[in-house]
Amino acid sequence: MCSSTAEPVRRLFFALWPDDETRNTIDTLARGLIRQQARRVAADNLHITLAFPGNVTARVQACLEAAAGRLTGEPFELAIDRLGYWPGPRIIWAAPSETPAALWFLAAALRDVLVTCGLEPETRPYQAHITLARKAGRAPDITRVPPIPWSIRQFCLVESVSGPAGVNYRVLRAWPLQVIEAGDNRVKPS
Ligand code: 2AM
Repeated sequence: MCSSTAEPVRRLFFALWPDDETRNTIDTLARGLIRQQARRVAADNLHITLAFPGNVTARVQACLEAAAGRLTGEPFELAIDRLGYWPGPRIIWAAPSETPAALWFLAAALRDVLVTCGLEPETRPYQAHITLARKAGRAPDITRVPPIPWSIRQFCLVESVSGPAGVNYRVLRAWPLQVIEAGDNRVKPS
């Protein structure tokens, strides 16, 4: 008989996690919009992925948390006002039509964190988006919606847990984004 020596892994990603009001507003948008047959994402699972380590051991998780804790980043505002469709994975998504510099910095810094911890670098360009539905047969009828404001004050490490009822996302940790005061000599992510 074979015995497995594989280390246990957890499926992790860094994300922006909406507050309840923003989550409900995005969910209401998705419910109104997606009338076709599709797998709508549960309200509790709505988020923007920043970087995706995937399946990692406890040692790599500890490295990711330590490196994420050393990042600095400033709070910023998002306006979710755009809809789109990726025909390959058949995903309907919502996104900000403008990605603030602070979001590019944060996503790039977290991609660097993955590499610091020995993971493969992500080669695809970053596209901030909220997946609203999967297995959707066609694009939404509209591409613009009244902006949904979302104030970003922290970023999170989230675990993706698969269960009989589907996948569930669980926030493990959050780190604040704080205005860097003049005279603060911490290094900003490059
Ligand atoms: P998606 O919403 O566009 O599918 C948990 O799976 C989160 O990580 C989801 O937001 C998912 O993006 C994202 N994700 C899954 N696989 C990924 C990958 N290989 N690269 C980047 N992000 C991924």
